[in-house]
Amino acid sequence: PERTLVIVKPDGVRRGLTGEVLRRIEAKGYVLVGLRMVEATQEQLAAHYAEHEGKPFYGPLVEFMSSGPVVVALVEGHRVVEGFRSLAGSTEPTASAPGTIRGDLGRDWGLKVQQNIVHGSDSAESAARETEIWFGAGA
Ligand code: GTP
Ligand code: MG
Repeated sequence: PERTLVIVKPDGVRRGLTGEVLRRIEAKGYVLVGLRMVEATQEQLAAHYAEHEGKPFYGPLVEFMSSGPVVVALVEGHRVVEGFRSLAGSTEPTASAPGTIRGDLGRDWGLKVQQNIVHGSDSAESAARETEIWFGAGA
């Protein structure tokens, strides 16, 4: 079955929402097949966010993602890439529908980068690439 790479970002970990995020993933019926807490390295973040390099929010984004530990999860299930993006809600917590992780638990804090609790891969190809970054080859 398909896999996606989920990250509970530093704001989510700091606010004690790791369990709530994992609970929602499991309650939906998806399966956790990998889980680790790490302090992201600059190399991991540069690789993970390569598509955003040069954008105005790139610097603040990398700084934010380095501001504390993150919890990285590998999640499995049919159509889980699409399914987790649906659970997460849209990028901006203010505009995210209630019922979603970002819509229920997030808000705009008026900062330089959206602190939106979670990351989820945007395609199966991204998931494979990101899995290698966070879990190493062979995960
Ligand atoms: P991820 O699941 O984290 O990848 O979120 P996403 O796919 O909804 O957003 P995207 O990949 O486009 O951007 C990655 C992250 O950069 C977002 O989750 C936000 O934290 C931040 N970000 C993206 N776009 C903007 C923006 O226009 N302004 C600001 N301030 N932050 C942004
Ligand atoms: Mg993205």
